[in-house]
Amino acid sequence: MKSRTPAKVILFGEHAVVYGEPAIAMAIDLYSIVSVEKSENLLIDNSPPDRKYHSFILTAYEKSGYPDPVHIMVKSSFSPSSGLGSSASVTVGTVSTLLGMQGRWSKEVIARISFETEYAVQGRASPTDTSTVTSGGAIIISRGNVENLLWSVEKNGITWNIGKIDIKPIELIVANSGIRGSTAHLVSKVSSFVTKNKFGMDIIREIGEISKNAIEPLMDGDIEKIGSLMVKNNKLLNILGVGHEATTRIIDSVSSFSYGAKITGAGGGGSVIILPREREKVIERLEYLRIKYYNVKMDREGVSFIK
Ligand code: MEV
Repeated sequence: MKSRTPAKVILFGEHAVVYGEPAIAMAIDLYSIVSVEKSENLLIDNSPPDRKYHSFILTAYEKSGYPDPVHIMVKSSFSPSSGLGSSASVTVGTVSTLLGMQGRWSKEVIARISFETEYAVQGRASPTDTSTVTSGGAIIISRGNVENLLWSVEKNGITWNIGKIDIKPIELIVANSGIRGSTAHLVSKVSSFVTKNKFGMDIIREIGEISKNAIEPLMDGDIEKIGSLMVKNNKLLNILGVGHEATTRIIDSVSSFSYGAKITGAGGGGSVIILPREREKVIERLEYLRIKYYNVKMDREGVSFIK
């Protein structure tokens, strides 16, 4: 059996969402494919599993409750550690396929098991990435009430409600700095920033306000407003310490040709999302800087089976 799972971008609210503030994320049309076959021994991509390299897949297998050994094979059209949810995509694909093989397939169950997997491997985490790539479309994650509730996920006294939001289509450019950021490391970096600085939680709450203020412009397609909120969100992410000279260079170099640009995901390198005003000029700049980029659109389907 085979599952196809999208990548994701966080439009607003990464890091703050770990503390229960709202975030808005969107599944995008870059995919990973996980296929699973019955096998004599447990194998991942033709090798016996090694927790050091296959921690997400192995934990997903253990948590999916499949009773027999299998061979799990993974293909991905986007880079790992690039801020696009590669580990979430592969985790969700593995859980989806294994649940399908047991006749227990449900998006809500996939989202829960996949979040538990990420949490076990990564330490502190929110369900943003796993729920977005499971559901597809654009979603809001919030401790408060959300319209169009898909499911709720609980951990350590925080309940995150995950709801669909009907945003106007946006075509973004995702630029990959080529610097790999470790989500676990960046999440713990933010955690020490928040503990050591009196104003740390103020920054987290300000990011939460930006996510709330972004809902209407996203639903109305108010591109100017969305762009200016992206710029504000990016400043706050830099204050939290998850910026990197490589992403700052990309953002600065396209700023005169875009409505807004920001780090997406954990940061520390990784990727930038750009809302282009003059697409050709943005692309020219990225090519001049030899930056790998993707023109992305929303994926509406989320995880699904393929032949
Ligand atoms: C990573 O894509 C998003 C973070 O907010 C971590 C998380 O939500 O688990 C940085």
